[in-house]
Amino acid sequence: MASPGIFSYIAPEKTQPELQGKPTVKHFILALPLALGIVASAHADEPASFLKDIVPVLKARCMMCHLTGQEPGNMKLAPKAAYATLVGVKATETALNRIEPGKPDQSYLIHKLEGTHVAAGGTGERMPMGGDPLAPEQIALIRAWIEQGAQNN
Ligand code: HEC
Repeated sequence: MASPGIFSYIAPEKTQPELQGKPTVKHFILALPLALGIVASAHADEPASFLKDIVPVLKARCMMCHLTGQEPGNMKLAPKAAYATLVGVKATETALNRIEPGKPDQSYLIHKLEGTHVAAGGTGERMPMGGDPLAPEQIALIRAWIEQGAQNN
């Protein structure tokens, strides 16, 4: 029988362009908001993702103290609750919002991470409380995500 042989010969070739096409399509979708000028940041070549970039940091470094919203700080930083507790929500320690989309320097969370929270009108400790500061790259990523509109992406 010739047909199964032909089929198995053609099959790998058929799947190859599909695999190669995936990143291209993905990059096009990611590049589209940049091209339209929706993303304000000049130095981010790829939009930061709340789910992929921010949530893992919150899980590893913040959630243990900010879980139910009853703790000092009144935030729920578990994955499913974190966005609603942060974005566009006024902080308890200052007049700033915790995260102000598009404006990292007006976002109290950034001040708490960088230790500039008192100068920004807030109180208390640098976050994570009692632990090492986040790595500069992690803070830069959170800044970039806020600059890009702090989307629930
Ligand atoms: C060891 C416990 C602990 C950890 C870990 C911790 N926090 Fe906090 N956080 C607190 C406490 C207690 C307060 C209130 C007192 C203060 O601000 O110092 C607070 C307050 C805050 C506030 C102010 C909230 C408001 O509305 O005014 C922010 C923002 C914050 N934390 C962010 C974070 C982030 C982001 C992380 C992880 C990078 C983190 N915290 C990790 C204990 C913690």
